[in-house]
Amino acid sequence: MSDKVSISYGEITSEMAIVPATEGPSGIDISKLIATTGLSSFDQGFVNTSSTKSAITFIDGEKGILRHRGYPIEQLAEGKSYLEVSYLLVYGELPSAAEAEIFHGKLREASPISKQLLSLIGSFDPTAHPMTVLSSAVSALAASETGLLDPKNPEQVEAATISLLGKMPVITAAIHRTLMGKDPLAPNLELSLIDDFLRMTFGEEGQSWKSNDVVTGALDTLLLLHADHEQNCSTSTVRLVGSSGANLFASIASGINALSGPLHGGANEAVLDMLNLISSSGDSVEQYVARVKNKEDGIRLMGFGHRVYKSFDPRAKIVKAHADKVLTELGVKDPLLDIAKELEAAALRDEYFSERKLYPNVDFYTGVIYKAMEFPPRMFTPLFALGRLPGWIAHWREQNLDTSTRIGRPQQVYVGPNQRSI
Ligand code: ACO
Repeated sequence: MSDKVSISYGEITSEMAIVPATEGPSGIDISKLIATTGLSSFDQGFVNTSSTKSAITFIDGEKGILRHRGYPIEQLAEGKSYLEVSYLLVYGELPSAAEAEIFHGKLREASPISKQLLSLIGSFDPTAHPMTVLSSAVSALAASETGLLDPKNPEQVEAATISLLGKMPVITAAIHRTLMGKDPLAPNLELSLIDDFLRMTFGEEGQSWKSNDVVTGALDTLLLLHADHEQNCSTSTVRLVGSSGANLFASIASGINALSGPLHGGANEAVLDMLNLISSSGDSVEQYVARVKNKEDGIRLMGFGHRVYKSFDPRAKIVKAHADKVLTELGVKDPLLDIAKELEAAALRDEYFSERKLYPNVDFYTGVIYKAMEFPPRMFTPLFALGRLPGWIAHWREQNLDTSTRIGRPQQVYVGPNQRSI
């Protein structure tokens, strides 16, 4: 196979090198395309465009493969914790038991947040979406962590990483409590990161906390399953913002905003809205599917479809298995889970969905589990953000270490008026 691609346009032929991949599609280096042909590449939604080389996550959407640093997601979900996977994504290798303990200790030490940040979180209108408050709070960290803002200083990058990973669960729990009209709880550094997150979310001031292994374990797995997904919309946003030299907190705050949309992280909340709508409308699942197929009011089957996965989302399989387990062990009987299963079955036997290769994605069942854990729907997407944080950080750090990184600045095909006079 040739290691070059030729593009001919009129009299001009331009030779372009191949950028080899270890797995998956290699790239065509089009960096001289405009200079040699006068043409730009046009790829709406970046469906065919590799914006970077990356060694963090590999996805084969046709085969339903997801691997972090080479490890299959099924093995990681079965045998490792969210903390260990966070370490793997950020540092490139799984930690030993001793390394994991040190890492956990550092995160816990960095967990407490300032009074100013708490009062910022409390200053928002109760109707504000928690994703708005979350991105604002993460953005505001740059105002207090002023010694950790230099992306080119390895010590500062490391300290900012630990600070953010340690504080994010505390910030998220404080947002939840404020939303519920309760005072935030300070972290208890004796507890594990996830268990303490649940205590700060659901516990009561002055009362001892009784952890539930099923809930803690399920939340750990859900966060782990969301930990990275290569160049998705929010991760690409983190990279784009970071490419300008913006600090880690500013870059991650931008990623949180990108994640908030219903076509991305906001889908987990939208799935529950959809299931509630079907339940309250009295419509059958078939009637709802018919409305989706007719594209009535542009409605979509939320939690279905994925830009990359075209056979199945391997995370969705794991989440579905957990949904049954968690609801059974918590003794929750939720008719919405039955509707979700019916909806999935109806869509999977329908040509509309099979022709377009639309399958349940990771968010199809997560909302039902979060609901069983008693999280309000508005907190579902912040939970996604909490899970995705190590992936965003890993990509931001990888980009900063890459000496070939240039500021992200796409071209456009201008279709406006030619020059005219007033
Ligand atoms: N329900 C119904 N039809 C759909 C759905 C859906 N969920 N998703 C795609 N389609 C249809 C489109 O209408 C289009 O049909 P057409 O060819 O007749 O015009 C075709 O499938 C292709 O759709 P696109 O929008 O071009 O696919 P794209 O790759 O751009 O979008 C996306 C992917 C955004 C995930 C889409 O499938 C979607 O909107 N899904 C629902 C929202 C969702 O669950 N998002 C979470 C994604 S996963 C994540 O972020 C963790």
